[in-house]
This record gives sequence, structure tokens and C-alpha cells, in this order.
Amino acid sequence: MLTGNEVRSKFIEFFESKNHKHFESASLIPDDPTLLLTVAGMVPFKPFFLGQKAAPTPRVTTFQKCIRTNDLENVGRTARHHTFFEMLGNFSFGDYFKKEAISWSYEFITKILEIDKESLWVSVFTTDDEAEELWISECNFPKERIVRLGEEDNWWAAGPTGSCGPCSEIYVDLGVKFGGDENSKLGDEGTDDRFIEIWNLVFTEWNRMEDGSLEPLPKKNIDTGAGLERITSVLQKKTNNFETDLLFPIVQAMGDIAGVKYGTSEKIDFSLKVIADHVRAVTFLVNDGVIPSNEGRGYVLRRILRRAVRHGRLLGVKNLFLFEIINVIVNLMKDSYKDLEGNSKHIKKVVKIEEEKFSNTLDQGIQHVMNAIEEAKESQKDYLPGEITFKLYDTYGFPYELTEEICEENGIKIYKNEFDEKMEEQRNKARSSREIIMEKGQDSFIETFFDKYGKTKFTGYDKLVETGKILHISKIKENTYMIITDKTPFYAESGGQKADNGTISIGTSVGKVLDVQKQKDIYIHTVKITDGVSDFINGIEVQMKVDKSRRVAMAKNHSATHLLQKALREILGDHVQQAGSLVTPERLRFDFNHYEPVTDEELEKVERLVNIQISKTLPSNIRYMSMEEAKETGAMALFGDKYEDIVRVVSFGDFSTELCGGIHVENVSEIGLFKIVSETGIAAGIRRIEAQTGFTAYEGIKTMEKIMGSISKKLKTTSSKLEEKVEKTVDELKSSQKELEELKLKLSGYEVASLFKEVREIHGVKVLIKKYENKDGSSLRDIIDKVKNKLGSCIVILGSDNKKAIFTVGVTKDLTSKIKAGDLVKQLAIIAGGNGGGRPDFAQAGGKDGTKVREALNKAEEILTERL
Ligand code: ALA
Repeated sequence: MLTGNEVRSKFIEFFESKNHKHFESASLIPDDPTLLLTVAGMVPFKPFFLGQKAAPTPRVTTFQKCIRTNDLENVGRTARHHTFFEMLGNFSFGDYFKKEAISWSYEFITKILEIDKESLWVSVFTTDDEAEELWISECNFPKERIVRLGEEDNWWAAGPTGSCGPCSEIYVDLGVKFGGDENSKLGDEGTDDRFIEIWNLVFTEWNRMEDGSLEPLPKKNIDTGAGLERITSVLQKKTNNFETDLLFPIVQAMGDIAGVKYGTSEKIDFSLKVIADHVRAVTFLVNDGVIPSNEGRGYVLRRILRRAVRHGRLLGVKNLFLFEIINVIVNLMKDSYKDLEGNSKHIKKVVKIEEEKFSNTLDQGIQHVMNAIEEAKESQKDYLPGEITFKLYDTYGFPYELTEEICEENGIKIYKNEFDEKMEEQRNKARSSREIIMEKGQDSFIETFFDKYGKTKFTGYDKLVETGKILHISKIKENTYMIITDKTPFYAESGGQKADNGTISIGTSVGKVLDVQKQKDIYIHTVKITDGVSDFINGIEVQMKVDKSRRVAMAKNHSATHLLQKALREILGDHVQQAGSLVTPERLRFDFNHYEPVTDEELEKVERLVNIQISKTLPSNIRYMSMEEAKETGAMALFGDKYEDIVRVVSFGDFSTELCGGIHVENVSEIGLFKIVSETGIAAGIRRIEAQTGFTAYEGIKTMEKIMGSISKKLKTTSSKLEEKVEKTVDELKSSQKELEELKLKLSGYEVASLFKEVREIHGVKVLIKKYENKDGSSLRDIIDKVKNKLGSCIVILGSDNKKAIFTVGVTKDLTSKIKAGDLVKQLAIIAGGNGGGRPDFAQAGGKDGTKVREALNKAEEILTERL
């Protein structure tokens, strides 16, 4: 019997033997702004299908890690739902088509996997006679086991628009014990668990347009996808994917942690399956650089992780457990996913932080449930409505099952159907804005432009001055135009590096280039033209000149970013990966994965290491090569660059090698100086370093020096003795402060003593009413406490004019039946244009108008005279 790992490698070997090139699994974060996650094996190849990019090779095979979250709630409940799964695929970009796709899939299934031919069924699209005939002629497939299915089953698209086509699916019949009878056919009602789809062959030859119409793609393509977990479960004769050797070790490990056994109850199996699936998703998402957050991919990760934690609780596990499971996953999958082991420490850290945080949420959630139960009981109810159980789930992230459990213990009923209804409402809301597989409409202007003129030729790596021809000019706003030329020396903003600035001119008419963006490799210049705009017309040649000093400053910062990344990896460890970067002429900003603040010593080491490289005058070396070759050089890469046919590799000596399209110095000595300015955290597990180079760094140091100089002068010392002097001064300050506090205390004693002279009696009650200037609330409170303590029974009313008005009223308990501090202070505050209230024995309030304090205190006296 084949293991899951063997199925994976046999698939790749098989298609390699059919001249396919094996590409490594791409990141779960697609290089495609319209997609949240990699949801199918074809995602990295979308540009090749659509003809936006030339495929580097016509036949490719992959095992691709994928995540789908559209059926999250079903995971664990069914035999085959997953968030994380692996898709085996073979792809043809304008090379072979239906015939080979069909016959090779059949060959692999029957000859290599040796699945019983008699158990196989296939479906073809309603009108696809060709596919049916090929199944019969190429594979001798019995016609009676070929079923025609409609759009819902046999049409595959990555989204509402874009590449798509009819498909043919291969199924295995598990037999009557899984549904139907002897005469059942694929597609019959009640046979979903019996006929298991194992492979989808998509004949991608159409492009669905915005208006829903289909246009033929430039070439006919093949996209196939076979779920590794499904195939393995069929081969290993398991009734669900979680029992295969791909997932069962995880189920078992979790069972051991929780002290439960798989197979003893449905409830236990459910939780074990959820955890086994979710921890794989969590591990791989974090591995690819996702960090838990409340948005986008971070939110997907958070939801999945939390669901796993709560199922841990349902199994009775109170301690953190996810990181232990991660070890199991790393061991199972490290041979197929080479970066996993190296990143495992980082993954565990990130997961632990989130798990800990959520455990606290859970504890708070229990409190919320208890409060809701309490409230229900107080109002004589014996049940919690769906709104509340759903709110507990939705707002506090508190699992329904736990709410149910706690309610049960407290004799309160809840109804699952009410909760489900609310859940469904929420789902419907979410569905319309669903993040997944959305390929938004392409910008039609760029599309048309690209079809007509192709890419802009970028000559800026070698030249700062270029003559280009205007292909398009249009007005954006007053004096500002969008210009596209056939060639350009201007670097367009990308890879974190800002765009070049400069001029585009014709004769004496000059436009200032403010920004350059690129879309589909078309460079779009934003140009300010104040005079002579009529000279800038289509077809005319213009002089394009890049602002050299800005460019040079950015080159320094960009090259320094590469040195910094490498230095961080050396000092902090190989888990450091770029999470974002910005290169401007003034500074560089680099975000990276690291689970704790970088210490001062580490920062100093990093900064020093970069400066050592600068002093070594390492030359830059820029080469173009295939991705395979680049990998051999050990180049650091961002996943987005993966499937470029030819990549640009930037090295500095043998210290740093990265895939990069940016502008760099020729020799790192040009950077001159590298100075870290700040290190901060920007999200859980993500740190940010800002730094400066060259003359800007020098100026930064100069500024610091000047500040030190002027501080030394003020402290009457020299820079070298500054530290000692500051220490001494701080000590002196501390003891002066202490003395000051003591004096203040004494003084307030005197003040209070003198106050007693002002105490009067109104109808036998001791009363102090006093106005101050500029006294803060806490001093007033202090005075009230002291007077109350001393007099035992009294009413104290203080007001202070601090531009605004502030009133403080104290009433000793024996008098609160007659005068309530809260009511009184409110009346006073209203006079000064404010409002407020408080306790009967003490209250403080304010008003806008300090000049009304006197009037208010007079009113206070009136009130007391009336009421006492
Ligand atoms: N792209 C196809 C699928 O995901 C093969 O089913």
C-alpha cells in the first residue's frame, strides 16, 4: 500500500516522465492582489493561462499547498472537508490538450496507483462529446460509466471572470454500503459519499469577460487537480481523509495530549479532526509569513487557530497545546516543504502568542456566559435566545458548544436552531463579500493598451537619460498628465522602492515627473506640465531625464536594505523574513518576522555587521538566470517572484544574494555609513527597523552630536563627562523632589489649619465654602478629606477658577439625608455651564466658565440655608 508521501512523489515522477517540469509549491500568499490565498494548483500560473506572461516551459507539474475557507464550519464534521490540503496537478500552457490529459490521468490511476478499473466513473461537461469520445477511444472506458454533468459540476473557473473551461472529473465508487443500490449511477441522489471525486481535469480554453460572455484564450491549456488526501484515503481504504497516514499521526498526537482515543465517540472524533486539519493550515500560513490579525489573511489564520483552540478545550485540554502539534506536522511534511523545519521555531512562537491570547478570551467568554445566565434568571427566564448565544460566539469569539455546556450545568436552555439561523444570516452577509477566488475585472484601459503596444521598455538600469516616444497622454487634473512612452529610464515604484522623479521635455517645454507606477509592465508617468502642454502629443519624441541625486540616495538605501536583511538573519536567525519594505531617498524601512523586540546589543551587532560589509567595499553583481539556478545560489526570495521565467539576482560579494528588480549601488562602499534610527513592533511577531545611509546618516549623527553639545553646555560639562553629570543631576533632582513633596505636605497642613477659621455654622451644621484659583481636582479632594476628618460632621464645598470651573463637594455620612453631594455639585456645575454628579458623600464636577465659580458658591450657600 502506498503512503501519502509516496503518492505525492509518484505523481511528480510520472509527469516528469511525460516531460513536465516540477515546480515547487508556491506560497499560500499568491502573487496576485485579487486573491486572498492560493486556493488551487493553477493559481501561480494564472498569468500564463491568460496570456499575460509567457510560460517558462510548456508543461509543469506541482504538488501545491492550498487553503480554502468557504466551508470552514464543515471541517471535522465530514470525511473530506479541509481548510489546508495539497493539490496534485499537471499543467499545459498551450501545449497538449484533452487527449493527453485524459489518457495520462487514466494511466496514472490504473497503472501506477493500480486503482481497480471497475470502480472508476467519469463525468464530462454536458456538451463535451470530444471528451467522452476520448475516454472511450484512448482508455477503452465503458460508455455506461461516463456521465454528463452541467455547469455546476463540470465547469471550472478561478473566479467570476478570467480563464475557465469545461472539465472532466474522475470518481471512485466505494460501493453500495456508502449509498444507493446496485443500479445507482454517479450523480444520483444520496450517493455523495459513495462516488468520490479524485481528480478534476479542466480544459482551460475560455476567458470569461465582465459581461459574462466567453472569449477564447490565446491558447488551449490544461489544468488538473487531484486532492492528495482524497486519493490517499481511497488507496489506503479509509473511510475518511483523517485516517490516512497524512493526517492520522496528528489525530493521534492530539488524542495523546488530551488523553482521549479516536473512535470512541463522535464528539471526540469531531474535535480531533478539526484540530488535525486546522493546525496544518495554521502551520503553513505562519510559515508563509501570515500573522494573526483582524483583516484579510491574518483574520483567516486567527479564525482557524481559534477554532482549533476551542476544540482543544472541548477535549478538556486547558494548557497550550498547538505548538506540540506543530512539531508533529513539521516532522510529517518537512521533506516535501523544505523551509518548514527552519521556520518551525518562529511558527511556534507566533502560534503560542495567539493561543495564549485566545485562552484569555475564552476565560472572559465564560464570564460573559455566566452574566447572561444571571440576567436570564433575574428576569425569570429559563432560556437564552439565539441572539445572545450568537453574540457570545460572534463578538466574544466564544464557542457555541461551550455556551451550551455551561447553560446545561445551570439549568438554562438554548436552541441550536436559533443560533444556526443567526449564523446563516451572518454567512449570507459574508458570502457577498467573500474574499476567495475573486478575480476582479482587469483595468480595461491597460488591457487594450497592452494588446496594442505591449510592455514599456525599461532602460533605467543602465541609463538616466533616454529618448522615448509618447504613446499616450491624458489629463489627470489641472496641469497634471498621465504619460506613457515606448521606452523609459524611470524606475516605477515596486519592491518597496519609490519611483524615480525627473523631467520629460520637448524643446523648452518641460514636464516634472512626480510619480511612476507600473501595471502589467506598462510604465505610467504622472507629469506636471505648466507650460507648453500642447507640445506633448502622441507620437512625438521626448527627452526623459532621471533626477540623479534622488536615484542615488534610493540606491544606497535599497542596497543597505539587502545588507540589513542578511545581517538580521545572521544575528537573529534564519527565521527572519521580509514582511514589508520601503525605500525612499531619505530612509529605509524594513519589516520582518521576529517574535520579540530586538535587544540593544543585537541591534548594535546588526548595525555593525552592515557597516563592516560597507567597509569591505563589496562589489555588486547583477545576473539574470532561471529560478532554478537562482535557487542554487541560495538567493533570498520573496514568494511573489517565484514563477518569473527569468529572475534578476542581486549579490554583494558573497555576503548577500537576493532576487530583486530594484536599483542598487555598484559597490557597497557607496553607502558610506549605515545607521539604525529606530526599532519597533508593528504587529504580533512583526518588527520594523528604520535606518539611514550615506550623508543623511552622517547628518543624523551630526544632529545628535549637536544636541549632546548643547546639553553638555547647559549642564556646564563636556561631552565626555556628560553621562556622569547627568547621573548626578538626576540624583539631585530626585532628592529635591522628595524634599519638595515633604514641604508641600507641611504646607497643606498649615493651609488646612488656617481653613478651620473659615468654617461657619448654618443652622447648627459646620459648613466650609471656599473659592480657589487654579487648584486641581485632587488637591481639592485632599482638602475635603482633611476637613471632614478633622470636623467629623460637616459639609465642605470648594470651587476653583482654573479658566474652567471645578467644584468639589464633601458631605459627612450623617448629613447625606439632608444634602447629597452629587445633587449639589450638579446644580453648581450647571451654573458654570457644565454638568455632573456623584456619590451622596463626595462628588466632583466641572463647567466651562471659571468666572461663574463665585456665583455658584453663593447659590450653594442659599441652598444650604434653605435645606438645613
Ligand atoms: N483548478 C482545478 C480545481 O481546483 C483543477 O479543481
